[in-house]
Amino acid sequence: MNYNKLLDENKEWAKERVNSDPEFFSRLEHLQTPEYLWIGCSDSRVPANQITGTQPGEIFVHRNIANLVVNTDVNMLSVLDYAVNVLNVKHVIVCGHYGCGGIKAAMSDTDFNQVLNMWLRNIKDIYRFHRNEVDSVPEGDERADKLVELTVQEQVFNLAKTTIIQKAWSTDNRPDLHGWVYGLNNGIIKPICEMSSTSNIDSIYKYRL
Ligand code: CO
Repeated sequence: MNYNKLLDENKEWAKERVNSDPEFFSRLEHLQTPEYLWIGCSDSRVPANQITGTQPGEIFVHRNIANLVVNTDVNMLSVLDYAVNVLNVKHVIVCGHYGCGGIKAAMSDTDFNQVLNMWLRNIKDIYRFHRNEVDSVPEGDERADKLVELTVQEQVFNLAKTTIIQKAWSTDNRPDLHGWVYGLNNGIIKPICEMSSTSNIDSIYKYRL
């Protein structure tokens, strides 16, 4: 496919938006008030707006391989800080997906070279932590999907371990955290876990604020 097709499609899209809603761009140009932060996988098959039926302006988005919340990731943390403390989002959603290539890669013994190995190590550690639960599931796609769910759950915990979230919870009782997994085969999102300002945080990770 020629990349020019994307630019042509863009002009068509912009024209259609204005046709159906003349104020669409002038409204959005001056206003960004999303209620949701989405932390999702970079996978091209999991576009946040499309699968949730939302429009530009409704979801603030961060994506990376296997939707990880890594506590040394300045990129993710700056997005989280901005979303929570400037945009005042009410919900943070970590959305993984079944059949995630990043999860499968982390479960294999393939050497993806140092940088990718570093990123996938975060998933290998989750596998080790939940080894019995993951290995009790039959080997193959089903086992990988178990690790997909557990990884999402751990990323929600990782959000709760940050002072960004702990401070917002103590001063403003928001945002609620949600762990979801999207099904590539049916388009349905399955909620896995939730945390809010009333949730317990392991005392090891809880700060005196
Ligand atoms: Co993925």
